[in-house]
Amino acid sequence: MTNQTMFTETIIEINKLRTQFGTTVIHENLSLRVQRGEIIALIGDSGVGKSTLLREIIVLEKPAAGSIKVFGIEVLNLSDKQTLWLRRHCGMMFQQGALFNSLTVGENVAVPLYEHTQLSERLIKEIVAFKIALVGLPASAKKKYPAQLSGGMIKRAAVARALALDPNILFLDEPTAGLDPIGAGAFDELILRLTESLGLTVVIVTHDLDLLWKVTNRVAVLADKQVFVVAPICELIQLDHPWLQNYFQGPRGRAARFNKITNCPERNEEGNRGMEIGNGK
Ligand SMILES: Nc1ncnc2c1ncn2[C@@H]1O[C@H](COP(=O)(O)OP(=O)(O)O)[C@@H](O)[C@H]1O
Ligand SMILES: [Mg+2]
Repeated sequence: MTNQTMFTETIIEINKLRTQFGTTVIHENLSLRVQRGEIIALIGDSGVGKSTLLREIIVLEKPAAGSIKVFGIEVLNLSDKQTLWLRRHCGMMFQQGALFNSLTVGENVAVPLYEHTQLSERLIKEIVAFKIALVGLPASAKKKYPAQLSGGMIKRAAVARALALDPNILFLDEPTAGLDPIGAGAFDELILRLTESLGLTVVIVTHDLDLLWKVTNRVAVLADKQVFVVAPICELIQLDHPWLQNYFQGPRGRAARFNKITNCPERNEEGNRGMEIGNGK
């Protein structure tokens, strides 16, 4: 059995989505399914609409048409109360503004707990300390301000905040952008450890090939306003498609070829099971 065959329950289902800002169409007829428990990456050119798609899933942006179901529930017509409920179960690490600069790390992690729960001050403090330890930060980080931390520590603190409410789904928007290779490498391990121990489903927007190779079960490719293929990366790099060939050329291609040699299992009778070509279905 391949890993992929373990993921049989759809947790996010996007159908025929259209997103439009003014007269500019960002997504057209975009469909994608995310399975519970998987780590799926979204890749695509800058400006193709990856961050917007994440924001639409947690109802921070409204598409023009189509359907987005999360946990089987249509999210496009939720009441304010239902939207809060949805966000409680979806942790988000944003591409920009990972943390509030004027708050300490501990205060940052506590923000969702104050916003969404009635828990006592004491319990919130305990949860904050636990989340900070969970992401591998020292307890001393709690009292520090973002400006006093390294890039890697800020990203970890942002993950701690995204995990504050024990979400079922974790969204990470370019989590390793700007990190040095060692910091980015440690981040791979953090994501794997968290996914395994917390039973999370993870959706990552990334250009980081190491992350794509080391942590993802599948990769969804956004181009021309749609998800045109979803496949494990070992299968993706073998596809004869101009965008993919271009994407994996140069340094990316070299890394991909290297990883292919070292990481890709030989194809067997289950070879193509994780692949879905054509509009993310
Ligand atoms: N709120 C908005 N209003 C107008 N245009 C937007 C808005 N949000 C995003 N865009 C535009 O939509 C496109 C997709 O943006 P984004 O989702 O951030 O791309 P990506 O994350 O793939 O780089 C970009 O051209 C961006 O300028
Ligand atoms: Mg983005």
